Amino acid sequence: MSAAKAPAHFVLGSVQLGAQYGKLRKFSFPSHDEAVALMRRAAALGVREFDTARNYGEAELRLGDAFDPAHNPLPPGSRIVTKLHPLQHMAADASETMARAAVEESIGASCRALRTKHLPIVMLHLVYLRHAWNGAAWRRLLEFRDAGIIGEIGISAVTPQEAIAFLDDPDIKHMQVPINILDRRWTVLSAAERFARRSDVTVHARSIFLQGVLLQKEPSGWPPRCAAAPALIDWLATLTREFGLGGVAQLAVSYLRGLGWLDGLVSGVENEHQLVENLRLFEEPPLDARQMAHIEATRPAFDDWLLDPGKW
Ligand SMILES: NC(=O)c1ccc[n+]([C@@H]2O[C@H](COP(=O)([O-])OP(=O)(O)OC[C@H]3O[C@@H](n4cnc5c(N)ncnc54)[C@H](OP(=O)(O)O)[C@@H]3O)[C@@H](O)[C@H]2O)c1
Repeated sequence: MSAAKAPAHFVLGSVQLGAQYGKLRKFSFPSHDEAVALMRRAAALGVREFDTARNYGEAELRLGDAFDPAHNPLPPGSRIVTKLHPLQHMAADASETMARAAVEESIGASCRALRTKHLPIVMLHLVYLRHAWNGAAWRRLLEFRDAGIIGEIGISAVTPQEAIAFLDDPDIKHMQVPINILDRRWTVLSAAERFARRSDVTVHARSIFLQGVLLQKEPSGWPPRCAAAPALIDWLATLTREFGLGGVAQLAVSYLRGLGWLDGLVSGVENEHQLVENLRLFEEPPLDARQMAHIEATRPAFDDWLLDPGKW
């Protein structure tokens, strides 16, 4: 089995910077100039990976403006990870020719928005695209990769089962998975051992604060049907105090960095204050083995629907 990875680094999420986003709190998203300034600030502060998608509203366009190769290129060693359009507008019985054209449209639009001829990583935004239209969209993506227009191909999973199923596919080199400190599903499925067998796959976590819910200290800030909210809030506060940490955000990040199988944590921020605060969380060490075991042993029970904002 391979050794544990280095503690996961900060990846700037961009949906909050390009679209109206969030299931519980809906603030107006930053203006074009504010978002561009925030993306550049992140790069100046050392962020080297940016997560985006074809259907995050203005996000790709704003990243392209922020890091215009002619005037303000991305710092060396940086990369933007994007996702194919989910193509939900396409009929299930559309022809393979139409599916190929839709992929070409999405990849072309990403290249134009990001002002590049090469996309280092493109993920399927939804895994159903792998087999839709007799696999035509997937095959077209592989052709783009073989032609050098895409560097590596990956998937964005909604559930642990989806992600683990794709570990059998050698074409997959990148995954984005939803995971946070409340989530026991990955441990139950022995994710650490499974991902260790695919050390060639880069794994990014999202939902690290469950769209900000984990940072809410009152049940009113949690999804309405969540009967377990008081117990979970209390558990998070108790762990934070027992471990001598600065806050729940620190606990959430140090927990994920203690897992050993994640490469990056995608952090969605809405302003510079959150960016600077969240970057600081990565200066503290990951939780140690004793603290990690304590979390697994004391996590309160709750219904899994809480882990999927789509079900709130
Ligand atoms: N592949 C997919 O299907 C998919 C889906 C969703 C997201 N993503 C990616 O993941 C990224 C992160 O999104 P997420 O849903 O996973 O969100 P998250 O990181 O779990 O939570 C982000 C939210 O937490 C709050 N927050 C962040 N830092 C904070 C701080 N320091 N203090 C207080 N509140 C803070 C903000 O919301 P408030 O200020 O409103 O509380 C922010 O919008 C996105 O930008 C996107 O790139 C991918």
